[in-house]
Amino acid sequence: MKNETIDKQYNNFDDIYSSNLAVQDAAGNRFFYQTIDFSLEGKNILDVGCGDGTDCNFYQKSGGIVTGVEPSDDFLNSARKKYPQCKFIIGVGENLPLNDSSFDVVFSKYAVQTSPEVPRVMSEIARVLKKDGILVMLSKHPLRQFMEQNADKNYFKNNITTSNIYDGRIALHEPSHSFGEYFNRGFFDNFDLLDYKEWYDFPASEQIDGAIHPTFFVIKARRR
Ligand SMILES: C[S@@+](CC[C@H](N)C(=O)[O-])C[C@H]1O[C@@H](n2cnc3c(N)ncnc32)[C@H](O)[C@@H]1O
Repeated sequence: MKNETIDKQYNNFDDIYSSNLAVQDAAGNRFFYQTIDFSLEGKNILDVGCGDGTDCNFYQKSGGIVTGVEPSDDFLNSARKKYPQCKFIIGVGENLPLNDSSFDVVFSKYAVQTSPEVPRVMSEIARVLKKDGILVMLSKHPLRQFMEQNADKNYFKNNITTSNIYDGRIALHEPSHSFGEYFNRGFFDNFDLLDYKEWYDFPASEQIDGAIHPTFFVIKARRR
C-alpha cells in the first residue's frame, strides 16, 4: 500500500479501477446518465470525485466547460494526461477550492460516500452552485453500507465498511452513512429535490448473504 488514508486509497488501485470502468456498475451508470435529461451545452460543470476523468470527458464532449476535483494524485495525473481539454484540480468535497456560485451543474458519481463528513460535502456543493443550478449525484446506498459494516453493525454510527469489488480484487474502505446525513434540513433549505432513484448492481458490489438490497441511489436537485 502506498497510502492508506481513505481519501487517497485510490492511489493504490487507480489502474485496476480505470481498466474495469467499462464493465462496472451497468445499472448505476444507466440510472445516473438517464438522470442527465437536460442540455450541457455551454454549461460550467463540476465533477466532485472525478476519478480518472472518464465522465468529465463525456460532459466536455456534450458541450460543457468542465472542472474535475479529485483527491487521488494518481487519478489526477492520468485524468490530466488523457483529457487535457478539461481542468482537473486536487481537493476533497468537504472543502472545494472553488468560488461561490460558480457552476451551472455539479455531478458526482460514487464519490460522496467516501467522505467522513457528508453534510459538509452537500453544503459545499450548494455553495459552488449558482441559483437554479442542477446537482446530479449517485452515492452508495446507506443500506448497502450498513450491510458492509465490518463490525458492531449500527446504522446510526460512522462505522468503516469494506466493499469488495471486481471479484474481490479491490477492497474499498469507506465510512458508512445514514440518509439523514444526505437529506437534512440544510439540504432542503438549499435544494428542491427533483428526482430520486435507487436500485442494485451486483456485478460490481458483491451480493451479501444472498440479500437483494439497493446498492446505490441517484438524486437530481435544483439549487434554490
Ligand atoms: C468509486 S470512485 C468514483 C470515481 C468516478 N466518479 C467514477 O464514477 O468512476 C470514488 C472517487 O472519489 C474520490 N474521493 C475519495 N474521497 C473523496 C472526498 N472526500 N471528496 C471527493 N472525492 C473523494 C476517490 O479518490 C475516487 O476517485
